[in-house]
Amino acid sequence: MEVVIVPDAAAGGELIAEAMAQLLRRKPDALLGVATGSTPLPVYQALAAKVRAGAVDTSRARIAQLDEYVGLPADHPESYRSVLRREVLEPLGIGMDAFLGPDGTAEDIQAACEAYDRRLAAAGGVDLQLLGIGTDGHIGFNEPCSSLASRTRIKTLTEQTRVDNARFFEGDIEQVPHHVVTQGIGTILEARHLVLLATGEGKADAVAATVEGPVAAVCPASALQLHPHATVVVDEAAAAKLK
Ligand code: F6R
Repeated sequence: MEVVIVPDAAAGGELIAEAMAQLLRRKPDALLGVATGSTPLPVYQALAAKVRAGAVDTSRARIAQLDEYVGLPADHPESYRSVLRREVLEPLGIGMDAFLGPDGTAEDIQAACEAYDRRLAAAGGVDLQLLGIGTDGHIGFNEPCSSLASRTRIKTLTEQTRVDNARFFEGDIEQVPHHVVTQGIGTILEARHLVLLATGEGKADAVAATVEGPVAAVCPASALQLHPHATVVVDEAAAAKLK
């Protein structure tokens, strides 16, 4: 695992956007795995700036979703499909035909999750998976004590994650769904390159457990230690508890 400490979130965004741009120059139809939440926004903004400047061509790029709320209609403004369309696909000029995501509204959720894993594999697998991290060490929505071998499946959000995400639902926790589908940790580990971005002091404990703690299900992100090509990009505040 490589750890890169950057001065701030903007520098982290630029670094990762450049890694994505280099990948797309090498492999124009690369499958980029993307996360939602606040942390990756500087990455998407920096990559969109490169597209506008003509420094990278995204016309053949493909995007894969990491996780989704269960029960929110796909066109709900806070479904992760809608968020990714707004924050990633449209700014990068990528159409929904190049988008892969799990179906959080399927009647048979488990079958939809298994179908998503098959679609990812049939698409050739994720080339670069961008991850954020929860304050409790979750990646995707694999909360603490998720199996390190897990596949895409339905999960129940912890109260803490629902509190954290209420900010996207007018601050009203009642509107935050209780369930999500998420790529499993085993699914995530199949990506060729994992890039985790963590910014801010609130992530410092989770980053220390991820990088320096034992590989353990209590900190799902620690599974990155098992991956042959994992990069953890942290700003100085998130790096504060590294030895
Ligand atoms: C969401 C996801 C989550 C977030 C995590 C951190 O797609 O993968 O694991 O990355 O909850 O969220 P932020 O970045 O908002 O602190």
